[in-house]
Amino acid sequence: MIKKVLVVGAGQMGAGIAQVCAQAGLEVFLHDQKEEAVQKGLQSIGKLLGRAVEKGRMTEGEKIATQQRLTPSTSLQDAADCDLVIEAVVEKMEVKKAVFQELDGITPKHAILATNTSSLAITEIAATTKRPDQVIGMHFMNPVPVMKLVEIIRGLQTSEETFKEIEELAKVLGKVPVSVEDYPGFVSNRILMPMINEAIFTVYEGVATVEDVDTSMKLGMNHPMGPLTLADFIGLDTCLYIMEVLHEGFADSKYRPCPLLKQYVQAGWLGKKTGRGFYQYEKTTG
Ligand code: NAI
Repeated sequence: MIKKVLVVGAGQMGAGIAQVCAQAGLEVFLHDQKEEAVQKGLQSIGKLLGRAVEKGRMTEGEKIATQQRLTPSTSLQDAADCDLVIEAVVEKMEVKKAVFQELDGITPKHAILATNTSSLAITEIAATTKRPDQVIGMHFMNPVPVMKLVEIIRGLQTSEETFKEIEELAKVLGKVPVSVEDYPGFVSNRILMPMINEAIFTVYEGVATVEDVDTSMKLGMNHPMGPLTLADFIGLDTCLYIMEVLHEGFADSKYRPCPLLKQYVQAGWLGKKTGRGFYQYEKTTG
């Protein structure tokens, strides 16, 4: 039974994961190497819970109880009596490997080590530990408290027992798990990113304007948002990075990133976060 969890990385995703775990009644450490990041994460959780109370989706008492289950952490030693660690640090293999190696030496024998990576190989991360059968991918979607899907990714050596425990936990968190094997892009990004890339090719080749491509997919396919708007939200650098992972991982030219996508990233037009991507936005601070 998973009762105590440590979430490593208190950024956008880590804070959301910690929130849904605490809301589901688990004891949660929210860990980051930076104290400010932990405080910022807890503040953003406080704001979201406050909004849930205002909207009548939660009582003030439930909000307080949820917050009491969240403990700030700046030492990985706090994982010493945890049943599960969910890692959500930056998307860099070396950083993740170092975190997993350290956790392998700290956590109890039975503990499962999960990663929220969106593109890195679970099998490779698992191989840095002495418990590859207890390492698994748990890929939440952004924003975590809202999005229902969790891709559960088995590394080559992940055990069935580990898979079942994490699948069960995802349901306890109110999510819908899908079972995925460890290949580049998993399922969601393998399908989404080539669609976004193709939308960019359509603009690059002069087939249609940015607005008309988005309108086609919104009104013609009933997508809530056009692919180019979505790309701007995700960040064009992230889209390019994931296309490169697919291109390299499958060695197949069908995944080649569009030259226009590369050019926008070179220009620093990364989408909403920089004020300009396929659309223009008011610059956000921070
Ligand atoms: P972020 O940049 O908002 O947060 C990362 C946090 O990790 C930062 O607070 C940083 O201080 C901390 N950190 C870095 N190295 C650390 C270490 N060694 N020990 C402890 N903390 C450390 O990043 P974000 O967006 O939350 O992404 C985190 C992970 O989730 C990445 O693997 C990313 O690919 C994945 N992901 C991101 C999604 C998104 O839409 N942003 C969606 C699904 C997965």
